[in-house]
Amino acid sequence: MIGPMARVFVTRLLPGDAVDRLGAAGHEAEVWEGPMPPTRKQLEAGVARSEGLLCLLTDRIDAQLLDAAPRLRAVANMAVGTDNIDLGECSRRGIAVGNTPGVLTEATADLTFALILAAARRLLEAADAVRAGEWRTWGPADWLGVDVHGATLGIIGLGKIGRAVLRRSEGFGMRVIHHNRRSGLSLDTVLAESDFVSIHCPLTEETRGLIGERELGLMKPTAILVNTARGEIVDTGALTRALVEGRLGGAALDVTDPEPLSADDPLLRVPNVTVLPHIGSASKATRESMADLAVDNLLAALAGRPMPHQVAP
Ligand code: GLV
Repeated sequence: MIGPMARVFVTRLLPGDAVDRLGAAGHEAEVWEGPMPPTRKQLEAGVARSEGLLCLLTDRIDAQLLDAAPRLRAVANMAVGTDNIDLGECSRRGIAVGNTPGVLTEATADLTFALILAAARRLLEAADAVRAGEWRTWGPADWLGVDVHGATLGIIGLGKIGRAVLRRSEGFGMRVIHHNRRSGLSLDTVLAESDFVSIHCPLTEETRGLIGERELGLMKPTAILVNTARGEIVDTGALTRALVEGRLGGAALDVTDPEPLSADDPLLRVPNVTVLPHIGSASKATRESMADLAVDNLLAALAGRPMPHQVAP
């Protein structure tokens, strides 16, 4: 059973044909087709006339935006993280909010391992040197990195993605310790004992700035910090200082604060830093599955049913 026809504002062109299913169900999708996200004004205009919103982590959904959206009943975020959405405000207004968990777990864990390996073995620096014509001979002391096998991996946040990273680490013969809200070791112990610290918790008021000056100071001077969760969990200034001053071995980041990171950010001038443009879930199959789940969430809510992955109310 589908409810009456609704208008849905979709804030970017999505991979795959998920959005077609909105039309097939009798709804009208208005897709923002620009190469950049809609501006605040464009987003406001889009939600003003819509019952449904399919948005991305680059769209901030707050009280002010909701004030401009009197008809809005359903928000589907095409992401597992919902830190871009004021969930309390949506709940108060009876607007259902859904996310896309599960389908991006393995892709994000794959990318986490790509970052661990790249940082440990200096892949980007070495590949850049080949391109720059600097490969003159095989040098016994050239490009020395650190071993991944046998190293201690500290996982912060042992949810779906953290556990998928843990499974991969077993194949690499790593020792794994973790810190979670209700299990594992203390954060300080994990930071102090790990050769690689990998962050997999959501961004919440509790985890914002979780890794700051003091926490970085607890890490081994050779340790590598890996972040595929949210940039704001780490204090960027403190991280840059720790790397510049040689108090930390390196950082491999798929997420930064801010995003995008400007090309002249001091963090990018530190040699032992790898930064990717937030591509953890960026495989074709994964992004299509995320779009599908977001549409499933909308179709359910617009038909008056709970979303399959509802995070609020
Ligand atoms: C990506 O960062 C997501 O939250 O899905």
